[in-house]
Amino acid sequence: MKFGHFDDVNKEYVITAPDTPLPWINYLGNEDFFTILSNTCGGYSFYRDARLRRLTRYRYNNCPLDSEGFHIYIKDGNIIWNPGWQPVKTPLDSYCCRHGLGYSVISGEKNGLSAKQEFLVPMGNNCLLMRVTCENKSCISKRFSLFPYLEFCLWDALDDSSNFQRNYSTGEVEVSGNAIYHKTEYRERRNHYAVFWANRDPAGFDTSRDSFIGTYGSPAVPDAVISGCCKNSVAHGWQPIAAQQFDITLGPGEAYSLIFGLGYIENSDDDKWEEPGIINKAQARRMISEYDSDEAFSRAFNDLRDYWERLLSNYRISSSVEKLDRMVNIWNQYQCMVTFNMSRSASYFESGMGRGMGFRDSCQDLFGFVHMIPERARERILDIASTQLPDGSAYHQYQPLTKKGNLAVGSGFNDDPLWLIAGTDAYLRETGDWSILNESVDFDNDASLAQPLIEHLRRSFSFTASHLGPHGLPLIGRADWNDCLNLNCFSEHPGESFQITGANEGPVAESVFIAGMFVKYGKAWVDILRHMKLDSEAAEAEAAVLSMEKTVLEHGWDGEWFRRAYDAFGHVVGGRECDEGQIFLEPQGMCVMAGIGKDSGEAEKALESVQKYLDTKYGVVLLTPAYTRYRLELGEISSYPPGYKENAGIFCHNNPWITCAETVLGHGNRAFETYSRICPSYTEDISDIHRTEPYVYSQMIAGKDAAGFGEAKNSWLTGTAAWTFLSISQAILGIKPTLDGLLIDPCIPADCKGYSVSRRYRGAVYNITVKNPASVEYGIKEIRLNGDICHGNLLPVLPPGETVDVQVIMGA
Ligand code: BGC
Ligand code: NOJ
Repeated sequence: MKFGHFDDVNKEYVITAPDTPLPWINYLGNEDFFTILSNTCGGYSFYRDARLRRLTRYRYNNCPLDSEGFHIYIKDGNIIWNPGWQPVKTPLDSYCCRHGLGYSVISGEKNGLSAKQEFLVPMGNNCLLMRVTCENKSCISKRFSLFPYLEFCLWDALDDSSNFQRNYSTGEVEVSGNAIYHKTEYRERRNHYAVFWANRDPAGFDTSRDSFIGTYGSPAVPDAVISGCCKNSVAHGWQPIAAQQFDITLGPGEAYSLIFGLGYIENSDDDKWEEPGIINKAQARRMISEYDSDEAFSRAFNDLRDYWERLLSNYRISSSVEKLDRMVNIWNQYQCMVTFNMSRSASYFESGMGRGMGFRDSCQDLFGFVHMIPERARERILDIASTQLPDGSAYHQYQPLTKKGNLAVGSGFNDDPLWLIAGTDAYLRETGDWSILNESVDFDNDASLAQPLIEHLRRSFSFTASHLGPHGLPLIGRADWNDCLNLNCFSEHPGESFQITGANEGPVAESVFIAGMFVKYGKAWVDILRHMKLDSEAAEAEAAVLSMEKTVLEHGWDGEWFRRAYDAFGHVVGGRECDEGQIFLEPQGMCVMAGIGKDSGEAEKALESVQKYLDTKYGVVLLTPAYTRYRLELGEISSYPPGYKENAGIFCHNNPWITCAETVLGHGNRAFETYSRICPSYTEDISDIHRTEPYVYSQMIAGKDAAGFGEAKNSWLTGTAAWTFLSISQAILGIKPTLDGLLIDPCIPADCKGYSVSRRYRGAVYNITVKNPASVEYGIKEIRLNGDICHGNLLPVLPPGETVDVQVIMGA
């Protein structure tokens, strides 16, 4: 069952029923100011950091669900309704939500009156804009009132939702003309305030929630709206809000629009006040005047469209498969950008108060983003690297505001260092900007320890190489990619964090997965060293990689698949002798991607086992059989009920590893099958089962052992976005940036007749057409570059600005 449809021309998902299985959200904002907005106008705004600079309140796990946001109420005679349906939930005559790239348009109609809310965060300004357009579609004149309403957060979202003895007394506002200023704590240590404004004069306002909603009222029946009259309240403490009232009369066919804004302003410490106690509003006034007309609003809209058009033009496919094209051209890339901006901080499943930027997460996010804005990728790599510790290990997380490593979580996740090589390698292959390796970068944010970036990569590699366990496999530390496989944790007490309890390091527990990573990204490191003409170091690194490959085949191979790990007692995890958790997905994906056992047959067997044991109709599960009881020696993984999350859920992040692995062996049919199984546009038809947004990936889909098999959770912020983009754009469609140019190497379903891709690469445009007349899955017969036969499948790097035509014929 569907609740809407894709509009590919406008690059929108159009939701046609407000009561979607879960709130379906969008992200507005690309730089510093962000808003999360659901299809019924729920959500919140923040500046840079969703915890420390939260502008509006949002109550997670609230009941009713998703009722705080950017609602407007319309009182038309005795009928009160919202264009976005919530929170009054008056049945609408029509409803529509269009989530687009960086904007959303939500409209409703009731009794001959339509109202449309258009939301966007303009480029280059720290505000959310909302244009409201009402139209009288009836044949009689209508007189109605319109009330926008939002609830301010007292800045620190965590404190705001816990420290009531203080913050019930601190709230302060100022009302001036058409604007309401939220200035809590501005009198003391803050130099910033928020402003909510309208471009027309309201008939009244409220800034106290008790006054607008009623102390025992509800957003579904606000006192002021019921009585048709705001009370011009000024909040002192308690719950400051912004609400206004507009009384509007429209003749038949007449329309009326208003523009609202919610802005964030910082003043310097010596320029905070206009007069004693009156905040300096100069910047706010400038912001307000910038968007006071329909033309100004439309201009902001067009700028945003142009911005996205430019970003998405770097990789554009045209095939005859519309479900594929819309994901590659629009939604997958869009999600990559959002994930890059948000890391794992703020979604409808991430409260914005928890984790900062993950070291491994941010490195992997680069894969999906680097082709769009390489400059920001460069900056991100340097930020991440400066939180690395001098021995090559890494803080697991860092804070986006301070860019400092997070001491509370610390280090000890032994896959982290290698992801830095992976991310930097992706950047080098995309840009050819070798200068990044010479950038001086702090260790542990300490300038006195700074070294060129290449030294950071070197220490990443040698950290893994020098932390090996009894079988010669890398020690796992707290955990590897799978945060929940905690082999040195042994947590017995409720509430202890699995991520930081127990030994930071253990001398025995080893990871076959990290071994796979070491081979895969170790090979990338060798290529980088060769390119830098550091030949003897390259030879040494290569020897370490080859020896690890042997070790994996000797101690990490179980007969039919790659083992997962050895626990702290040296027992196998993910082997046939285990009663549960016999086979895991991650080492099959990573080891085959690394090419381990490719020539000797183990790789083929491993992928056969994935298909035989782990595959389901909704995607590949992380392990099987699921753990049915808690196991002290394995940690969090066994804490989840069977089928959920890391305990045999369909963890979407590593499904594309299998896709990529299949292409390493030339299995185009199977690669596309694993791609499409979890692909949102392919699962749109089962939105009632899947429940999360049909235009983006979720972190997890409940696996076959779960009661809710097929139900997705944790949408939007997941490494799935970047890895899927890599798997489809590079592994399947076969357009692979390398250190020396674009490599053409498709691996596609045999029945695919062909496709074309326009790819901007290092400033030049490659218009590539792939044809598959012999219905093969893999292999190239001929490539022509501007009509001339090309030797091999590596396209040369062209001068920026140039456009070339590339004709590829697949075949034997
Ligand atoms: C989740 C993991 C996550 C970890 C770290 C766990 O509860 O299951 O997916 O990586 O927390 O925050
Ligand atoms: C989500 C985390 O953000 C990521 O770092 C981790 O690899 C996966 N969960 C698997 O545990």
